[in-house]
Amino acid sequence: MDDTQGRMTNDGIRIHEAGDFPGMRRAGAVAARILDEVAPLVVPGTTTGAIDDFITARVTELGATSATIGYRGYQHASCISVNHVVCHGIPGPKVLKDGDILNIDVTVVVDGWYGDTSRMYVAGQPSRKAARLIEVTHDALFRGIEAVRPGATFGDIGHAIQSYVEAQRMSVVRDFCGHGLGRVFHAPPNVLHFGRPGSGPVLEEGMFFTIEPMVNLGRPETKVLADDWTAVTRDKSLSAQFEHSIGVTAAGCEIFTPSPAGMFYPTWG
Ligand code: MF3
Ligand code: CO
Ligand code: CO
Repeated sequence: MDDTQGRMTNDGIRIHEAGDFPGMRRAGAVAARILDEVAPLVVPGTTTGAIDDFITARVTELGATSATIGYRGYQHASCISVNHVVCHGIPGPKVLKDGDILNIDVTVVVDGWYGDTSRMYVAGQPSRKAARLIEVTHDALFRGIEAVRPGATFGDIGHAIQSYVEAQRMSVVRDFCGHGLGRVFHAPPNVLHFGRPGSGPVLEEGMFFTIEPMVNLGRPETKVLADDWTAVTRDKSLSAQFEHSIGVTAAGCEIFTPSPAGMFYPTWG
């Protein structure tokens, strides 16, 4: 890793240079394209393992490598989190059924740059409350993104997300957060999806990080299953998540992981 370019804030947050944005764009585009390509596979009767097999193949075919295979012992190119699974669901023999909602999270490395994005999918037709959860979670991510500009704080981002979600009588997961990234997968800061306006580090142009709120229909508490990865809601309520990788610009921010086909928000039926 090249530590000679850019600088680091007192909080340990790397400030990237203008020349670092194109690498993040290329990595983000590969991850987002793969999330577009999996959409037709998400139908009742498919297994999450089959979806992950497709993702594994496409990562290689697109000239990237998977950031998650081999990461702390994780063995898959995606996390697939179904219904009450909050995050880090392990792909496998689980068969999707009509009405299941799922997050698919892909992180790739292209020329040393990390692209990390996730979005929701529906197998068949969701219940009305599931559809509403997905909509609120998507809009919560964008409330957070809209708070990003130089001079704002990470607490402003968290507050924008939390205040919106709680006004919809849903809850924000506290146990997992977004993260800095760039030429590393997980870097400072922890990007909390709750908080107080004006708290936390001040945003500066050149910071790269994810925003990836997890929203539950019930209570916010989670627990990790015996596999040491799968995080579920303690009350078994449905959970949703959307994630973009972004970079702070003079004007606000650039999203590195937009969907090439405009498919970030799911369709169903
Ligand atoms: N992509 C996840 C994130 O948003 C991290 C997955 S790590 C894994 O940060 F090992 F579980 F894949
Ligand atoms: Co992430
Ligand atoms: Co991710």
